[in-house]
Amino acid sequence: MYFTAPRIDENPPAANALRADPAFRADVLQGLAQPRKAIPARWFYDMRGSQLFEAITQVPEYYPTRTETALLKAHSGEVAERVGADATVVEFGSGSSIKTRILLGAMPRATYVPIDICGEFLEEACTALQRLFPALRIMPVEANFMNPVQLPLRPDEAPRAMLGFFPGSTIGNLTPEAAVDLLRSMRETLGESAHLLIGIDRVKEPRRLVSAYDDAQGVTALFNLNLLQRINRELGGSIPVGEFRHVARWNPTASRIEMHLEARRAIRFEVDGHAFRMEGGETIHTENCHKYRPGEMRLLLAAGGWRELEHWTDPQGDFSLILAQADGAQREP
Ligand code: AVI
Repeated sequence: MYFTAPRIDENPPAANALRADPAFRADVLQGLAQPRKAIPARWFYDMRGSQLFEAITQVPEYYPTRTETALLKAHSGEVAERVGADATVVEFGSGSSIKTRILLGAMPRATYVPIDICGEFLEEACTALQRLFPALRIMPVEANFMNPVQLPLRPDEAPRAMLGFFPGSTIGNLTPEAAVDLLRSMRETLGESAHLLIGIDRVKEPRRLVSAYDDAQGVTALFNLNLLQRINRELGGSIPVGEFRHVARWNPTASRIEMHLEARRAIRFEVDGHAFRMEGGETIHTENCHKYRPGEMRLLLAAGGWRELEHWTDPQGDFSLILAQADGAQREP
């Protein structure tokens, strides 16, 4: 595995505090001031957080990535046949675009529209992809895909089939209500007769779920703790990172894994000049990873305006890859 463990007790000076993203600052200050402290998971993904997430996908306990990759290898051909090998593939939150290579390998005449909020990451991923697929037309969009996105398609061109791509069970990081809103927004972005290929993780034995989010090598722990280091680095924080431990727990009522950062003892710290205190055992809630049963997935998609056409899973029934079509689109024979 290619990552270096950071020293978790370091508190770098506030040199970057003035250049910090104001939305990050607002979310952190607001989240730490609540009686139940919580910081949105999207702030995990600075450069180091993104590298650590890539490392998580390689640990033995984290089954979603390798399971979904196998499903994509097995079924991308069927997707291409159903949607059309020259479709426009719109990926929501494209990141490193690794799984996209499998899908695009089956769609040689596709146009690829990756949407990602991080322009730097997007550029790198597109350059790498273009090297692999020199003839592929790539039209990147730097945007927050949580809202409808204007696609950069030329009005003079004949309309092509649209395929939204949302792998990785990223939908599980949203509450079911927010997931429905996102599915509706995707439908608006993609248009009336579009298809959507989506990966969703399934409910399973809590022991397996917890170890997928608390791996023996401690990579997920580093990923979670990196958020505190990011706060110290970018917002001039004095959080004693070494006094926190990573916690992953299964919440059966909400059907989700919750990640928290738990204070080992009573502590005080500052962030951007604001003072905070925590009791020993108190936590900062950092992420939810909702898991669904097949029937619940169908309902979720339907509430978001999508009708399930195909539902593929692995032999253990760990993960689902679903091909759906915008509801209301003309039914296929
Ligand atoms: C990005 N997302 C789908 C991952 C998940 O499994 O919910 C994030 C993650 N957090 C810890 N491990 C992986």
